[in-house]
Amino acid sequence: MSIDAAREYLQTQGKAVDAYLAQMFASHTRPARLFEAMNYSLLGGGKRLRPVLCLAAARALGRDEVEVLPVAAAIELVHCYSLIHDDLPAMDNDDLRRGKPTNHRVFGEALAILAGDALLTYAFEQLSRPLAIPADRQLRAIHVLAHAAGCYGMVAGQAEDILQTGGTGDAATLEFIHLHKTAKLLAASVEMGAIVAGADARQVEALREYGIHLGLAFQIMDDLLDVIGTTEELGKSAGADQQLDKLTYPKLFGVEATEKLAHDAVLRAKQALQAGGIASDVLFGMADFVIRRRS
Ligand code: IPE
Ligand code: IPE
Ligand code: MG
Ligand code: MG
Ligand code: MG
Repeated sequence: MSIDAAREYLQTQGKAVDAYLAQMFASHTRPARLFEAMNYSLLGGGKRLRPVLCLAAARALGRDEVEVLPVAAAIELVHCYSLIHDDLPAMDNDDLRRGKPTNHRVFGEALAILAGDALLTYAFEQLSRPLAIPADRQLRAIHVLAHAAGCYGMVAGQAEDILQTGGTGDAATLEFIHLHKTAKLLAASVEMGAIVAGADARQVEALREYGIHLGLAFQIMDDLLDVIGTTEELGKSAGADQQLDKLTYPKLFGVEATEKLAHDAVLRAKQALQAGGIASDVLFGMADFVIRRRS
């Protein structure tokens, strides 16, 4: 079954990502406390879904994962920065992340903000250094990540999320939030893997489309798990969305309809793969994984 293939792939390739990230800031320079804060959030936890999706997309197009690892790692740096800032008192004010106290709880707000800044900036330092990738592909990958992370992507989604908290936003607003804060980075992950692997335009478009629907399903499920999951399973505080009165799928549609919408999005993700002729057991399995997961 492809979901087993996906789980196994996530585990093995996730370990390769872990190992790569562990050596990234291994030799501390000054100030040591900044590097501790960066490593605290970067290492020891997380599903590594985004970098592994990048590797899986490259693999689907016949490229060896090892060659794509530096690119995949850059995506996880952006993701980790987003989690640190998302948890800040001025944002979601969370105390728990990946089963540990949040970054600002341990290092204080100022260092948490700076650790996030440093991870985001280093992502682009990492992505723009000499890599064994044709320069035109590397440049395109940099552009895709920047676009997905900034004011046309995640930052826009996070801003709308904050602006809509405690409000009466509608379904279209909610879709805007989920598309921008989460789906665009997941889509960028597979798109970057495809670009680096030398995919043609049709393949890139199919994988981007897959990533968007996968990302929507992922965030719809994240909303649902906040309601039906436990703090222990999630490694972050369950029920936090309701407490803050966030605009979420369960809030607008209820639990049952939310499950159905997540399934619909997964179906669309798979259809995009089929339409693009991408035969990857792992990518199909990832689509099932995002709605079956409990953490
Ligand atoms: C959490 O993402 C933030 C969202 C976009 C919902 P993940 O659930 O992938 O978090 P980690 O990396 O596994 O901790
Ligand atoms: C955050 O969404 C998405 C990001 C861009 C970090 P959430 O606020 O729902 O993520 P969690 O539930 O805290 O992981
Ligand atoms: Mg948030
Ligand atoms: Mg949050
Ligand atoms: Mg959430």
